Amino acid sequence: ARTQTGAADAAPEWSSRAAFIAAAVGSAVGLGNIWKFPYMAGVSGGGAFVLTYLGFVALVGVPVLIAELLLGRHGGPSIVQALGRMAAGARGGRLWNGLGWFVALTALGVLSFYSVVAGWALAYAAKAAVGGLSALTPQASTRTFDALLADPAQMIAWHTLVMGAVVAIVARGVKGGIERAVRWLMPLLTALLVVLAVYAGGVGDFARAVEFLFRPDVSALTPEVAMAAAGHAFFTLSLGLGAMMVYGAYVPKSVSIPRAAVWVAAADTVCALLAGLAIFPLVFGFGLDPAAGPGLIFVTLPVAFAAMPGGAVVGALFFLLIVVAALTSAVALIEPLAAALGGAGERRRVWTLRLAAGAWALGLASVFSFNLWSDVRLFGQTVFDFIAHVTGDLALPLGGLGFAVFAGWVAGRSLTAADFGSPRVHAAWLLLVRFVAPTVLALVFLDLLV
Ligand code: PHE
Ligand code: NA
Repeated sequence: ARTQTGAADAAPEWSSRAAFIAAAVGSAVGLGNIWKFPYMAGVSGGGAFVLTYLGFVALVGVPVLIAELLLGRHGGPSIVQALGRMAAGARGGRLWNGLGWFVALTALGVLSFYSVVAGWALAYAAKAAVGGLSALTPQASTRTFDALLADPAQMIAWHTLVMGAVVAIVARGVKGGIERAVRWLMPLLTALLVVLAVYAGGVGDFARAVEFLFRPDVSALTPEVAMAAAGHAFFTLSLGLGAMMVYGAYVPKSVSIPRAAVWVAAADTVCALLAGLAIFPLVFGFGLDPAAGPGLIFVTLPVAFAAMPGGAVVGALFFLLIVVAALTSAVALIEPLAAALGGAGERRRVWTLRLAAGAWALGLASVFSFNLWSDVRLFGQTVFDFIAHVTGDLALPLGGLGFAVFAGWVAGRSLTAADFGSPRVHAAWLLLVRFVAPTVLALVFLDLLV
């Protein structure tokens, strides 16, 4: 059972198991699947990245997902306080508060560029709706995207709209709105991904796409690619930030968390692979560059929509659904800090506004990195790449490592076999969070350093 969390944390539970799974899937499925996965696979050489990422999801992602959800169930939604409380008396003690602050700040960094990219999707939904994406050649499509990147005012406007929507949703309470949005719109998004993958397979080069995505090329597995795959496994499952911990705090006691975690990870993985199968046949079929970077889906998909009967409607709907998926993820990015700083009620609303304003301002750096500051390099990377890399590839795996160690070694007493239904599942999970996940992550970090 949930331990005492104080009146400020008192939060109603998700209305059902299905509602919780829907919300967790809503947090997981987002830009990570449809935008980041194809672009990372593209710049990282395909198969080596994809298969490593899948390995991380199974061996590290699912166990850490279970860990975060259980920590939330037993500690409550105020992650900083919860970690400190569960660590009380243990080795390290209050130091674990630091993990809470670290992951919550990472979440803000992620939100800053997440909102900018969601803004691109919103811009594209609008363009598609007014027919601005029809009759596009691959070259014209590249020019359209470059024009958006070159226009800071326009990007700021979309970024602001997205952040405003996030604040509005969080202010109304995460549960009601998200439950409803996710239950209807996520299946629709998945169905559209299937349609797109089938269509792309027909007009593009399906065989080459499959080979690119799934043929392991061992020589491409550099330490950087391994790190990126680990980071992406955490990013896509919403791990290492405390987001799932907050959501876990609202799970009804009757729900089996390990089983739910497997469903969430499976749904998230299916969406990512579908997105890959929708994008890469087009990339190869139309002679586009798989390593184009963050613009990959925005350059590739419009080419398909332009050639497709009814493409304007399908395109507008698809980009709009991406925005919805991004919003249900973005609210999860603000929850951990809002809960930690504001508790519940009026103060939480004030903090939500302040945090969103902070993430919005940091997002401007990402906006400018594509135009005004396009020559600026931080450690050889654009500002956008730098923020995405430091948060996504480094801070997330570090936070995830922290959660694994904390759940396996520190909070072990409060997470019991009862949470797992069977002692064998409990033992397997303990083995994974205590030894396997920390070892694998430590190896990846060391590999990067030497
Ligand atoms: N999992 C989300 C995605 O793939 C991103 C996210 C990360 C959301 C962490 C919340 C917390 O788009
Ligand atoms: Na995801």
